[in-house]
Amino acid sequence: MSHHIQLTTRDGQQIAFDCEDGEDLVSAAARSTILLPAICKSGGCGTCRAHHTGGAHQLGACSSEALPAEARARGEVLLCRTIPLADMTLSASFDHAHVSFQPIPERMATLAELKVLGGNTLRLVLTLEEDPELGNAAEFEPGQYAELTTPDGLVRRAYSIANTANWEGRLEFLIHLQPKGLFSGYLAKRAAIGDRLRVRGPQGAFVLQDNGNRPRCFVAGGTGLAPMLSMLRRMVEFGETQPATLLFGVTSESNLFECSEIADLQAQLPQLKVDICVWKPGAGWSGFVGTPVDALRQHLETTAAKPDIYLCGPPAMIDAAEKAAQAAGIPAAQVYSERFLPT
Ligand SMILES: Cc1cc2nc3c(=O)[nH]c(=O)nc-3n(C[C@H](O)[C@H](O)[C@H](O)COP(=O)(O)OP(=O)(O)OC[C@H]3O[C@@H](n4cnc5c(N)ncnc54)[C@H](O)[C@@H]3O)c2cc1C
Ligand code: FES
Repeated sequence: MSHHIQLTTRDGQQIAFDCEDGEDLVSAAARSTILLPAICKSGGCGTCRAHHTGGAHQLGACSSEALPAEARARGEVLLCRTIPLADMTLSASFDHAHVSFQPIPERMATLAELKVLGGNTLRLVLTLEEDPELGNAAEFEPGQYAELTTPDGLVRRAYSIANTANWEGRLEFLIHLQPKGLFSGYLAKRAAIGDRLRVRGPQGAFVLQDNGNRPRCFVAGGTGLAPMLSMLRRMVEFGETQPATLLFGVTSESNLFECSEIADLQAQLPQLKVDICVWKPGAGWSGFVGTPVDALRQHLETTAAKPDIYLCGPPAMIDAAEKAAQAAGIPAAQVYSERFLPT
């Protein structure tokens, strides 16, 4: 027996497809060549979150970070773990433009730069190889990510792109090395200039929104800074004048990175206010002490405007920031987030 599924995207467009008994919604949509935003397809990353608005269903096992109990209680589901028992209606947290109706592009790229920044963070720069249709260009929206595969083809991981679209095919990433991490191990021990990696993307619905002159508040934990740099660089390129605030947090000063890049952005965006937040600083630290969520609370207490809020980094930081935004009366539709969950 098949069930009819009606999904309303954030911008109000309708997507419909049929789902067979026992099939999950991401797989069923893919069978109809509708590729919904989804990375792990196993309930672990949280990219496929949506709001269930009608119809009986079963929800398979998923990590509590990808779908916290409170989100579940509000009626949120993970599309990759939702098995319909009847016709269903859902509303998605992504726009129609972020659903793909053709396969996600895959291109080869050459490793052009690998630089150790603060703490255990690296800047990785890839150059896309020429594509018969796209030439050399790297086309993506600020905030999107790509999946990178190691040259041996064994490990594939998602990383947010830190620069902006360009004709030269340059893709810049900020990567925090995880102890015993497989992709991290490749970067730390074996990667060399000239290596060839497969790039699958761009992907993702965490992108800069055009909401007129509404202020923007970017809250980044660690390498969650990457998509924020892309968004701020785009604001510079387009000469955008919305008030903007960047709250960037790390645990200790030794983990800081890209501070000079942030200072350059401030010089080019006079309206940009920045708080660099250190949770456990040494005695000489004169900046903000606390997490970027502490800084967000203060910011929302002292500003009358209700900004769009962009959140990126560890899931616990995002959950806490979402609560702070809700407590300050920011509508949920104005809060956009990307969780850096293991993929
Ligand atoms: C949409 C998206 C975008 C992402 N963008 C970035 C980015 O720009 N920069 C970046 O550094 N990472 C990013 N990540 C996380 C990245 O995809 C990998 O999960 C991470 O780099 C670890 O990969 P690994 O192969 O080194 O470790 P794995 O072999 O996957 O894991 C090794 C160990 O580390 C733990 N671990 C893995 N990832 C994390 C984590 N994020 N926090 C805490 N523990 C972890 C695992 O549970 C495991 O115990 C993103 C994830 C998503 C879903
Ligand atoms: S794709 Fe559904 S949780 Fe990762």
